[in-house]
Amino acid sequence: MPTFKDATSLQAFLNSQRTGNNTVGFVPTMGALHKGHLALVTSALSQNEIVVVSIFVNPTQFGNAGDLKNYPRTLSKDETLLKTLHNDIIVFAPNAEDLYNGNITSNSYNFGAIANEMEGKYRQGHFNGVGTVLELLFDIVKPDYAYFGEKDFQQLQIVRKLISLTKQPVTIVGCPIYRENSGLAMSSRNERLSKERREASAFIYKTLQKVKEDFKYKSARQLNEWVKSEFDKQEALELEYFEIANIDTLKTIKRKHKNNKYRAFIAVFVEDVRLIDNVSLNY
Ligand code: PAJ
Repeated sequence: MPTFKDATSLQAFLNSQRTGNNTVGFVPTMGALHKGHLALVTSALSQNEIVVVSIFVNPTQFGNAGDLKNYPRTLSKDETLLKTLHNDIIVFAPNAEDLYNGNITSNSYNFGAIANEMEGKYRQGHFNGVGTVLELLFDIVKPDYAYFGEKDFQQLQIVRKLISLTKQPVTIVGCPIYRENSGLAMSSRNERLSKERREASAFIYKTLQKVKEDFKYKSARQLNEWVKSEFDKQEALELEYFEIANIDTLKTIKRKHKNNKYRAFIAVFVEDVRLIDNVSLNY
């Protein structure tokens, strides 16, 4: 399984592999791979002859220097995991100076209102950093298809917007959330939870499932109040936000329209670990 650190040798290798109607599927990640990431790679493998996985902890999307420093870096373990799926997966693991050509700063994108909701509100500058690194990576890899998890649903919508702004010729594929047996959305951050807190965190998805059930006959306001009161009773879990939003605008719902699609979004602190999750409500 080839691993490339620099863009030029990756591109030379990809050019040698691209023939006829071969397609390139791309899965951008920050490494510390888990089964959620592997589910995206499995989708890419089923739809493309060539699959590239990037492993790069992107400095420009972190608001907090400590967070960036503490982000797990486990390249050889990641390579071993990818090998269990397929031997020919191509890994791209550049260093920041090279990828950013010595200028590690974010572009400023006009993503519109979707960038100001939820994660955009609580993580200033985050989506500009995500956009910047993905524009760079798409330029290097030139994928036909790129795979993103609905776990980060707002990011998925931002990436779609990015492509409409940059006109890069890549099709974005959204993939379902992969969950632990308890229902907790798989995340590298789950590893930082104690056994008890990890069990307690299953409450997040349980609550979202109940919201989905009740969405048929309860108003968004009633559901908001119910979720807040449920989290007030949970000692280990601190609710940062709960929102029911239109999946296209990501604006908080005022009144249900039967032609619109809605999802419920949540961010919760479990001690210092921040977890996010979401579910579709009426589709
Ligand atoms: P990272 O957090 O490593 O996630 C990489 C991809 O895996 C994202 O598309 C994310 O939505 C997806 N993913 C994570 N957990 C998942 C789960 N439980 N089920 C399904 N998909 C899941 O997201 C990033 O990295 C970065 O922002 C990146 C896009 C790589 C840009 O730096």
